Amino acid sequence: MYPRVNVVGCGRLGQAIATLFRVARIADEIHVCNRSLESGERAVAAIGGGVAHSSISSMPISNLWLVACGDQEIERVAELIAADGALMADAVVFHCSGFLSSNVLRVVKGKGAHVASAHPVRSFANVEMAVREFPGTFCGVEGENPARKIVSDIFTELGARVFPLSPEGKVLCHAGHVFASNYVVALLTCARDLYRAAEIPDELAWQLMAPLVRGTIDNVMGLGPARALTGPIARGEEVVVAKQADVVSEASALVADLYVKLGLVAVDIAREQGLPSDRCHALRRVLQDGARSSPSLIE
Ligand SMILES: NC(=O)c1ccc[n+]([C@@H]2O[C@H](COP(=O)([O-])OP(=O)(O)OC[C@H]3O[C@@H](n4cnc5c(N)ncnc54)[C@H](OP(=O)(O)O)[C@@H]3O)[C@@H](O)[C@H]2O)c1
Repeated sequence: MYPRVNVVGCGRLGQAIATLFRVARIADEIHVCNRSLESGERAVAAIGGGVAHSSISSMPISNLWLVACGDQEIERVAELIAADGALMADAVVFHCSGFLSSNVLRVVKGKGAHVASAHPVRSFANVEMAVREFPGTFCGVEGENPARKIVSDIFTELGARVFPLSPEGKVLCHAGHVFASNYVVALLTCARDLYRAAEIPDELAWQLMAPLVRGTIDNVMGLGPARALTGPIARGEEVVVAKQADVVSEASALVADLYVKLGLVAVDIAREQGLPSDRCHALRRVLQDGARSSPSLIE
């Protein structure tokens, strides 16, 4: 148990983590500083306890600091903490960004503090729901010891499934989350656009996609990508792929570009699946050179 935790930047994530700290009795006291005192007071009400401050300089001395403002503010807030914060010797200062490493907090090391980052891989859009569903959340922890060990232990106590990350690996891991989440949304929107071009109403398009998407996700997770891949690339049908790429380019140049790039990824997966290398070569050629390289099929 820590005597207190100072949370600088207490919005969606800060409120959820501070609530978890309160419920799990990680800290006796929770102190909060937002850009405005009113916002800090609202955060304290949401947490169900704590004290709001109008500036970092009025926060009490502490050996545990969470910097949970937006990513673009973290470095500046760390500078303010180093300049005005009552940092206890050997204090741990950490943030929860998925993109930035703990290095962004390095200025506080000059004051004898240790830095880490802990990224819970989940959405904190709804604070109450995030608190309720937090146990079992994967959490990538990075930083130098002793801060990394301390933060790992705290998040483990909150019920997170902690895994270690290097500072360089962290940015790549975050890009992986972007592909697994944000880009799935972008990809399904591309599919919707192609259905639209085929004059299929949006409502029907989503209905068509739902079983395809859910089944595919289940197959990738259950069987792995090589066994989950089906379709013309898995079958090595370069003539079909050439014609399809051509038709897609008439509907949208951007989607056609993605068709080619993702097609090349799919060819690598088909190769893993055992597709002969001459078939893979033919597929790569039609994807890279366009339909011209397979003239026999073009009407
Ligand atoms: N939200 C998520 O789903 C999620 C998931 C994983 C990780 N994260 C990470 O969590 C961190 C916070 O994200 P969030 O979504 O919780 O942000 P948020 O809801 O926008 O909250 C940010 C808070 O920071 C305060 N703030 C901004 N600049 C400040 C400053 N200079 N001094 C003091 N307080 C300041 C704001 O205060 P005011 O209210 O006064 O403006 C606000 O309360 C980020 O590093 C983000 O990458 C978020």
